[in-house]
Amino acid sequence: MQKKITKAIFPVAGLGTRFLPATKSVPKEIMTLVDRPLIQYAIDEARAAGITEFIFVTSRGKSALEDYFDHSPQLEAELEAKGKLELLEMLKTTNMDSGQIAYIRQHKALGLGHAVWCARRLIGDEPFAVILPDDVIAAEKPCLQQMVEAFEQAPGNMVAAMEVPMDKAKNYGMLDVAEDHGNLVTIRGMVEKPKENPPSNLAVIGRYLLTPQIFDNLSSSSKGAGGEIQLTDAIAQELTEGRKVYGYRFQGQRFDCGSKAGFLQATVAFGLAREELRDELADYLHEIVNFSKAAQ
Ligand code: UTP
Repeated sequence: MQKKITKAIFPVAGLGTRFLPATKSVPKEIMTLVDRPLIQYAIDEARAAGITEFIFVTSRGKSALEDYFDHSPQLEAELEAKGKLELLEMLKTTNMDSGQIAYIRQHKALGLGHAVWCARRLIGDEPFAVILPDDVIAAEKPCLQQMVEAFEQAPGNMVAAMEVPMDKAKNYGMLDVAEDHGNLVTIRGMVEKPKENPPSNLAVIGRYLLTPQIFDNLSSSSKGAGGEIQLTDAIAQELTEGRKVYGYRFQGQRFDCGSKAGFLQATVAFGLAREELRDELADYLHEIVNFSKAAQ
């Protein structure tokens, strides 16, 4: 019987150059959408999908991330003393139990594939999830949960897939689709950041369910696009060795919070989704849109 997926890898060792100078001292994953750090959205999504072990691949300068997951007894006691019980409850939902989190270092930013490979000993011989916290997905049912449910019906490697305009394909790993069954597609290949002629309009985004053979592929991987060890190359190798890889068309809206434009869009969307902020923010947005129309 297929083992249940209970472990997730969060690769957070990248340099975050697109957010310099902020990322000189603040890890990108700690940056907030409204009042929650990006990493909190990723953890919440993983928990909803049944993940109980959280493995962070970190690097120098990411200690704020480790601190974020510590309990804060003093703060909790103060909130309690002041009767701020709602805030206290909310704070407690962000606590992680001892032993649930593991940190492993990637000593050099050699690519996403290499970051995942760094966690191989903590995964062992079972299927696992990979979540890129830069990709924030607003969805009624969290994206990873949708994928885990699909995995129970169709075990194998699975990547989250999203339709993109053809002229944007050069920014993504793109799927070469064999059969399209709606939410689930079978694939015959993957191309990382194709400069021209993408094989489909389905792009891979930052959620993966992987089988442990991936680590063998990563061990023998050479550098791919951009001089980095690419996770997509290791997944594509599964296909050449006759194993299954699925694309999963998830329901939901993905924000690329690794880019400034995507981060700003997510800030507006998550702000508008908050009841206490919606009206004031919407009024402001109307006002500036009308102002810029009038100026044209
Ligand atoms: P990105 O391609 O967004 O790179 O990585 P980055 O370094 O985070 O950001 P920029 O491009 O310099 O602005 C995608 C994901 O893979 C992780 C990143 O932390 C991010 O979650 N990653 C990337 C690693 O963990 N290690 C690497 O060597 C590269």
